[in-house]
Amino acid sequence: MSATPMNQPVKGYKNPNLPVNERIEDLIGKMTLEEKVGQMNQFVGVEHIKTNSAVMTADELKNNTANAFYPGFTEKDIEKWTKDGKIGSFLHVLTLEEANYLQRLAMESRLQIPIIFGIDAIHGNANAPDNTVYPTNIGLACSFDTTMAYTIARQTAKEMRAMNMHWTFNPNVEVARDPRWGRVGETFGEDPYLVTLMGVQSVKGYQGELNGKEDVLACIKHFVGGSQPINGTNGAPTDISERTLREVFFPPFEAGVDAGAMSLMTAHNELNGIPCHSNEWLMTDVLRGEWDFKGFVVSDWMDIEHIHDLHATAENLKEAFYQSIEAGMDMHMHGIHWNEYVCELVREGRIPESRIDESVRRILDIKFRLGLFENPYADPNETMNIRLCPEHRNTALEAARNGIVLLKNEGGLLPLSKNQYKKILVTGINADDMNILGDWSAPQKRENYTTVLDGLKQTAPEIAFDFVDQGWDPRNMDPAKVEEAANKAKDADLNIVVAGEYMMRFRWADRTCGEDTDRSDIDLVGLQNELIEKVAASGKPTLLVLINGRPLGVEWAAENLPAIIEAWEPGMYGGQAISEVIFGDVNPSAKLAVTIPRSVGQTQMIYNHKPSMYFHPYVVKPSTPLYPFGFGLSYTTFGYENLTLDKKQIKPDESLTVSVNVTNTGKREGTEIVQLYIRDKFSCVTRPVKELKDFARVTLQPGESKMIEFTITPDKLSFYDKKMNKIVEKGDFEVMIGSSSDDQDLQKEIFTVI
Ligand code: GLC
Repeated sequence: MSATPMNQPVKGYKNPNLPVNERIEDLIGKMTLEEKVGQMNQFVGVEHIKTNSAVMTADELKNNTANAFYPGFTEKDIEKWTKDGKIGSFLHVLTLEEANYLQRLAMESRLQIPIIFGIDAIHGNANAPDNTVYPTNIGLACSFDTTMAYTIARQTAKEMRAMNMHWTFNPNVEVARDPRWGRVGETFGEDPYLVTLMGVQSVKGYQGELNGKEDVLACIKHFVGGSQPINGTNGAPTDISERTLREVFFPPFEAGVDAGAMSLMTAHNELNGIPCHSNEWLMTDVLRGEWDFKGFVVSDWMDIEHIHDLHATAENLKEAFYQSIEAGMDMHMHGIHWNEYVCELVREGRIPESRIDESVRRILDIKFRLGLFENPYADPNETMNIRLCPEHRNTALEAARNGIVLLKNEGGLLPLSKNQYKKILVTGINADDMNILGDWSAPQKRENYTTVLDGLKQTAPEIAFDFVDQGWDPRNMDPAKVEEAANKAKDADLNIVVAGEYMMRFRWADRTCGEDTDRSDIDLVGLQNELIEKVAASGKPTLLVLINGRPLGVEWAAENLPAIIEAWEPGMYGGQAISEVIFGDVNPSAKLAVTIPRSVGQTQMIYNHKPSMYFHPYVVKPSTPLYPFGFGLSYTTFGYENLTLDKKQIKPDESLTVSVNVTNTGKREGTEIVQLYIRDKFSCVTRPVKELKDFARVTLQPGESKMIEFTITPDKLSFYDKKMNKIVEKGDFEVMIGSSSDDQDLQKEIFTVI
């Protein structure tokens, strides 16, 4: 029996020795309606309000999904509401001090129910200062290293709890299918299988057993379809058939639920005419009815309000709140009117209090399981022993190294030898900027990130690096600086241009990529192409390095430069890792987790397309991607032979084993990501020309061979028939194994389901 300091037995919900469900029932029995509805409400933090109310107009609030304040509602009001137990959660609280302060206010409330603090810890708790910043999800996905996904999530959870953050709005398990969309970098790419595995490991890493001081609540998001917006912009409508939903967009969410994810965030967009935030089919029939989801659903930013003021499927806010709760919503992100209107809806009998109790139980369950009643605060003396600790830094560096994709290396220009070049020109908007951290990053201390220029100097100190600073802002590059770089390129032995997009959120309106930063083309912005072409015109070898969160159609560079590195958003050690790849200290191993089209006109361009996709190829321009899904070069080469199936025929419920010998046929150690694709040759409904169904990372010494085995189980063959029943159909299947999704990189065999 737990006891208070005066050695009095602690009774009821405050007794940590009681089973959680008993604690919930005891507490909920004591709560007023206001207190219950308060648990379902989230606010942005006080410092966030102070910052934004000083610079934002009320009008700017309407379509901003990252910055807010509440006109007429001051931080004093928030503090009072917290003391009154009318706020259950906060987001955008970026310091331990503020979190502990708000928690102390909550501990003054009648029932002392602790606040749960949520934050977008998308690649480490990067959205707050002084935390380890790992590569963003797209780079992690290109490593195909699911163990790394788990490790990063585990370490992030520890760093979050060290600053009293309890809930990350991650993993984003959307299947990215449109390069115009600004959030590709936040996803694990375009393949449902890879997204699923990465999402599952992230959920497990964040949550652990969801019962300790180092666990945080994961949040699978955004449910569903916002990554295939009809015009490429975030939150735009999407129209997706149930078949495509169930075969492409649902699997990562269902697997996340099966992995134990205990919160889910609905998507901004309407789906087939119904806003996701009032979509009973999604939130109740599928999520709870089919998948038995036990966690709670949180809205995305003001999206319940948008049922009224954007989608216009509710005539007023109160109706919007009613529709959303009735459809299955549990927590409101964020702000005022919720408490007042929802209590009215209950008192008017439109929403039974029992429905409110359902949501409150789900939320209290998490607060009890995370131990927030026993440990409501974080220790300021401990916090920096965990955040940015050496182990986490090493992980960030390794992940950065493994997420870098070598797209082109003509004539073996790379790796550069450290004594062949005396002077190297370095230029480009991303050559020496914090932007290397990527989207969802707060400004970090200068000593806590390495730029490409830092890395080059560190990796090859004997070389003179001549830096021409193009500034950080692609929209406002200086033509004189472009000319200066072009001239200096003539005197250099080699040129490195570090280009791409701009993602830093503290310059919200200046970004070209990231949340709510979508584009109608996928070209380099500003004078970047001119810079590349003029520097290359020097006649000296020119290497292009890309720092970006969306695929970029760098077609001129692909046709005219000898080498291109796609580094995505590599995080705090990105500059070091890129430089180590350039000079060969690291042999690149990553493979594209997303197709890189030549131009936006090719959108939608995905590798797992249907057979008729290019029945009539484009005229004038090619129908092939610039670089295909699964593609990435190494400084060594790999040979594939002896593709073997242990059976040529299987029954629908049987499995078969596929094996292949992979050999390092080059002169240095390397890691290959062996990919297995499958195609159902003939089927009752159309099927993709190939689908990734397994992969393996294998590290081989020069000359070393390894037999790689995959098991093809019935679930890897199944699909939905005309009646939407999941079946394994008899007939021929093609197995393809190789180093990318490109047919020229694949060896094939046929087996038959009989
Ligand atoms: C944004 C994003 C969502 C994020 C939330 C809180 O609108 O869509 O992914 O978790 O707001 O920052």
